Amino acid sequence: MQEPPLVQAENLSKSYRSGTGNLTVFSGLHFEIHAGERLAIVGESGAGKSTLLHLIGGLDRPSAGRVLYRGEAVSELSDAGLAAYRNRHIGFVWQIHHLLPEFTAVENVFLPLLIRGVARPDAEREAASRLADVGLAARTNHRAGELSGGERQRVVLARALVTRPALLLADEPTGNLDQRTGENVFALIEDLHTQFGLTSVFVTHNVAFAARCDRVLRLQNGMLYEEAPGSATA
Ligand SMILES: Nc1ncnc2c1ncn2[C@@H]1O[C@H](COP(=O)(O)OP(=O)(O)OP(=O)(O)O)[C@@H](O)[C@H]1O
Ligand SMILES: [Mg+2]
Repeated sequence: MQEPPLVQAENLSKSYRSGTGNLTVFSGLHFEIHAGERLAIVGESGAGKSTLLHLIGGLDRPSAGRVLYRGEAVSELSDAGLAAYRNRHIGFVWQIHHLLPEFTAVENVFLPLLIRGVARPDAEREAASRLADVGLAARTNHRAGELSGGERQRVVLARALVTRPALLLADEPTGNLDQRTGENVFALIEDLHTQFGLTSVFVTHNVAFAARCDRVLRLQNGMLYEEAPGSATA
């Protein structure tokens, strides 16, 4: 039997209830993400890119339709099932880092393993190894609050990968960094994509980064369009 795509979205819709009525962000989306792909999601501010990433990552539920992961319906899981899905399969990288500033780099990175029930010495060893992978071996015991913006984003990457996820979801991972640091972080993500055999989805406003992906999907007026990498405008 042929393997199903890593992710499938079927008739995916999301509406938010707002003060005066309903806001439909998108509806009836269909797409697939295949194992090993680097996929960029682009579109104007407010188009629904983060919303879409949240649905793929099981951080939110669709208003209609469903998300399948390896052929299984994620959107139909219980809250506990969704939490387990995120911990087991997904690595998240956001524009805002969400690190605990008073905790050290290694403590921030091993937390997802403790949540999974891994013993602390093992979790610590694995976390230190991921910090070395992102070039931060020398910052293992720095508090997150003492690190530079680029270093924090590297810690976030180490934390995202410590659970060995199949799917990396990154929402403007370089959005808060200067151009040069952003370039270094994106190049690191590309290396890690290969090293860890990831499937990666990037929301980005950076045209050059989108052009380096295998596929580009544009969200516009609630619909999704496939674009040739390199032809994107923003
Ligand atoms: N929890 C919410 N409740 C109500 N409306 C929301 C909620 N989250 C997002 N929205 C609305 O949904 C639309 C899409 O938001 P989303 O954050 O997905 O956009 P985006 O494409 O990621 O934009 P940006 O590039 O600015 O990050 C926006 O109009 C936003 O105001
Ligand atoms: Mg967003």
